[in-house]
Amino acid sequence: MKVSALPTIAPTGDDGTTGHGFDTVVVLDFGSQYSQLIARRVREAGVYSILLPWDTSWEEIARLQPKGIILSGGPASVYDEGAPSLPAWVLREDVPVLGICYGMQLIANALDGGVERAAHREYGPAKIEVTQPSPLFKELPTSLDVWMSHADHVTRLPTGYVGIARSSNAPIAGMTDGRRYGIQFHPEVAHTPLGRDVLRNFLVDVCNCQTEWTAEHFIDSAIRQIREMVGGGRVLLGLSGGVDSSVAAALIHRAIGDRLTPVFVDNGLLRLGEADLVRDVFGRAFGMNLVFADASERFLNRLEGVADPEEKRRIVGDEFIRTFESQAALHGPFDFLAQGTLYPDVIESTAPDTKSAMKIKTHHNVGGLPTDLTFSLVEPLRYLFKDEVREVGRALGLPAEIVDRQPFPGPGLAVRIIGDVTKDDLDLLRRADAVVREEIDELGDGLRVWQYFAVLLPVRTVGVMGDYRTYGRVCAVRAVTSEDAMTADWARLPYEALARISNRIVNEVHGITRVVYDISSKPPATIEWE
Ligand code: XMP
Repeated sequence: MKVSALPTIAPTGDDGTTGHGFDTVVVLDFGSQYSQLIARRVREAGVYSILLPWDTSWEEIARLQPKGIILSGGPASVYDEGAPSLPAWVLREDVPVLGICYGMQLIANALDGGVERAAHREYGPAKIEVTQPSPLFKELPTSLDVWMSHADHVTRLPTGYVGIARSSNAPIAGMTDGRRYGIQFHPEVAHTPLGRDVLRNFLVDVCNCQTEWTAEHFIDSAIRQIREMVGGGRVLLGLSGGVDSSVAAALIHRAIGDRLTPVFVDNGLLRLGEADLVRDVFGRAFGMNLVFADASERFLNRLEGVADPEEKRRIVGDEFIRTFESQAALHGPFDFLAQGTLYPDVIESTAPDTKSAMKIKTHHNVGGLPTDLTFSLVEPLRYLFKDEVREVGRALGLPAEIVDRQPFPGPGLAVRIIGDVTKDDLDLLRRADAVVREEIDELGDGLRVWQYFAVLLPVRTVGVMGDYRTYGRVCAVRAVTSEDAMTADWARLPYEALARISNRIVNEVHGITRVVYDISSKPPATIEWE
C-alpha cells in the first residue's frame, strides 16, 4: 500500500501533511493475524492508527508525522530466508517504537542480541513478571496475565537495552533502550486482560499522544474535508439501508446538505418494514433529498422462473446497476459518487496476497457499482473500522435499527427463498422472518448472534390444525454466531425462544406449517442457504 496513492479523502491529508490534526501511530504489518487488531486497539485508546506493510519507506511514513511506530508480530523466524526484515529507519529515526513478538525479535537481531528457537513453541496464557519499572508498565501490577504465541524468543539483550519483564519460558519478555520497547506477549488480544493498559501507556506515556480520536472529532474533521473536496459540486450515493452507506449518507449530508442525493432502490427483496424505515429515517427525520426508486416489479419480472442462486445474484446485481444508472441520469448531473468503503476493504484490496480470506466475500458484493461511471469518489469512511462506523452513526443521530443492523445480503430475500422467487413466497418469508427477528431481538445482545433470519423451503409437508389436515410449507430458522462471517456456528438459542418462534410462525403465517432449526456450522455449510 502506498500512502501517496491513497486517493479521495482521508483523515490524513493527501498533501503529505497530517491535516486532520490527530496524533497518528503507524502499525507496521509483519504478517501477524493480529495486525488489524493492533490498529483497532490503538484507535480504541483514542489515537489514530494506520496499518502499513513492513517495507513501506520512511519517506512515505514520515509524511504521516507518526508519534510512534508499532511493529506487529508475524509468522516468520528472523533466521528464515526471505523473512521480513527490520527497516533500517526504525533504529535510525527518533520516533518511539513498540515491537511485539516478531517485532521485538527483529530489534534484538538487528542489534546483536540473541534470538533462539525455544525448546517448545509457547502458545497460550502465560504470566510475566515486571522486573524493572518503565513507562510501559506504569501503574500496572508486577505480575501480569498475558497471551503468548511464539516459537523464537530473545535470549540475549541487544546492545543498549535493559530487560523489563520475564516469564518462565522467556527470560526476556520485555526490553527497552528508553525510546524503543520490545515485548514478547500480545497486548492486543483479549486474553491479555491488561493489554489495553500496556498499549495506552505506550501511546500516552512513551509517544506523548493526545487521545483525541473520537467519533465527534472524526465527524468534525471529515465534514471539513468533504466540504473542501466537494466544493459546490453534487454527490450521488447508493443508499442500501446497511450500516456503511447509511453512515456515509448521514455524514455527507451534514457536510453538504441537499447537494447530496441518496438513491435507494427498492428491489422488492427487502425485509418487512425495511423500505419504510429508510424513507422515515433519511427522507423524513434527516430531511434528505432521498430518491426512492420502487423497482420491485422489474426485479421480480426478471427473476421469474430463475432457481439458480448465482443467476439470481447476477440478475439482482445487473438490475440494480440499471436502475441506479437511470436514476442518476434522471436526477443528475453529479460530480461525485459517494461510497461507504471501510478500512478493512482498503487494507485487503491493497495487500492482495496477505489475506485471501476476505476475497471470498467480495464476490458476493452484487450491490457493487458500475465501473465505467466517471465520477470522482468520496469515501469518508475509508479509514474507519466497522465499530468506529457504528459509533460515528450513533453520534450523527442514526437510530439503532440502522446502526446495529445485522448484515443483509445484496440479493436479499431472493437467496433465502430456495428455488423460484414469487411475490407470494416473498410475502410468506417476510412475515416469518419478522417473527424470527422480533423474538431474537427480545433476547438482547448477550447471545452475540451475528445474523438471524428465516429461509423458505420449496418443500411441502403434512400438518394438522384443529380438525383439519394441512399441507403447507417448511421454514428454516438460521441464527449464527460469528466474528466476521468467514466462519460461523449455529447459535445456541434457548429452547423457549425456539418454541415461541415456531409457535408464532405457524400461527401467524398461514401457509407455513412446519419450522426447523438449522444446526450447521460454517464450514462446511454457509450462513445463507443459497
Ligand atoms: P455465506 O452464505 O457465504 O455468507 O456464509 C457470508 C456472509 O455474506 C453474506 N452474503 C452476501 N452478501 N451479497 C452480499 O452482499 C451476496 O450475494 C451474499 N451472499 C452471502 C451473508 O449474509 C453473510 O453475512
